[in-house]
Amino acid sequence: MTFCLLQILLVIYLLLNITFSLKDTDKEREIEGKVVVVTGGTCDIGYAIADHFLNNGAKVAILLDIKIEEGIQAEKELNSKYGENKAVFIQCDVTVDSKRLSEYILRKFKHVDIFVNNAASVEENEPRKLMLINAVATIEWSIIFFKHMRKDNFRGEGGTIINISSTAAHNIDPLYATYKASKFAILGFSQSLGHKYNYNKYGVRVLTLCPGPTNTTLVNNVYNLYERKLVEKVIKYYNFATIQSSDNVGRGAVEVFRSSESGKSWDIVDEKPPVESPNTITVMPEF
Ligand SMILES: NC(=O)c1ccc[n+]([C@@H]2O[C@H](COP(=O)([O-])OP(=O)(O)OC[C@H]3O[C@@H](n4cnc5c(N)ncnc54)[C@H](O)[C@@H]3O)[C@@H](O)[C@H]2O)c1
Repeated sequence: MTFCLLQILLVIYLLLNITFSLKDTDKEREIEGKVVVVTGGTCDIGYAIADHFLNNGAKVAILLDIKIEEGIQAEKELNSKYGENKAVFIQCDVTVDSKRLSEYILRKFKHVDIFVNNAASVEENEPRKLMLINAVATIEWSIIFFKHMRKDNFRGEGGTIINISSTAAHNIDPLYATYKASKFAILGFSQSLGHKYNYNKYGVRVLTLCPGPTNTTLVNNVYNLYERKLVEKVIKYYNFATIQSSDNVGRGAVEVFRSSESGKSWDIVDEKPPVESPNTITVMPEF
């Protein structure tokens, strides 16, 4: 009799646990009412990500960017589209402002639910600066907000960190070696931090997006560094059908946010929906 009662209690406990964890997952993937921060959020892919999160009900999108004029303009555009104070621009150099501005943001907005590390440089001739912006800053901001979101922390409510790598992180070819190194670093870091083990322990989701060639200032700058013939050969090798729009990446970011488990990486290419990244690296043969 006692044994039977214990069995029933165990089943009820397991069912309640499943229900609660399902609810947690649902809550985590909801956009409505969430506070989103996007670095490099004033133009191109970062702007499109902020735009799509607002369009899907985010409470506010905080745009951190080094460019002041573009920042003011982006804030104005998004506020006229979604309503006053939906977008807030804060001037920021991601390589030096993480401590000061994370404290300011948390004081002002109380908490952050979604943090997107998007800012990047393609200045191959300034490798230290490039690695600081693309890799070191992404790691530092991720760690700061991971700590803020951790559910085992007093007041930690969970949350999602989205780091922007690139399809360049799956490939070896002769182009932009330092930029590629930074994107390999982000992919490895994000998949490790977001590993199921860490997710189960801390309740923070870490996702990676790998866009393919996208029509932005950055992509034109990087291709201008090399001979046209070489660029064309490399592009042809990868067989990308289009240079997609930033809008497609913004849309893809929302889709991944709503569906992905922690630790996963998603390619967004050719104006198509996201597909899970391959776990292999393609090495372009000699030519
Ligand atoms: N465009 C592509 O084809 C492509 C492909 C794959 C991945 N990506 C990645 O997508 C992300 C966005 O790229 P994009 O093409 O929109 O680039 P972009 O150059 O158009 O925008 C990058 C933004 O980052 C900001 N930024 C640069 N340095 C900063 C700093 N120190 N502090 C704060 N902000 C800074 C810039 O001002 C700019 O607004 C990057 O991580 C990039 O590596 C782009």
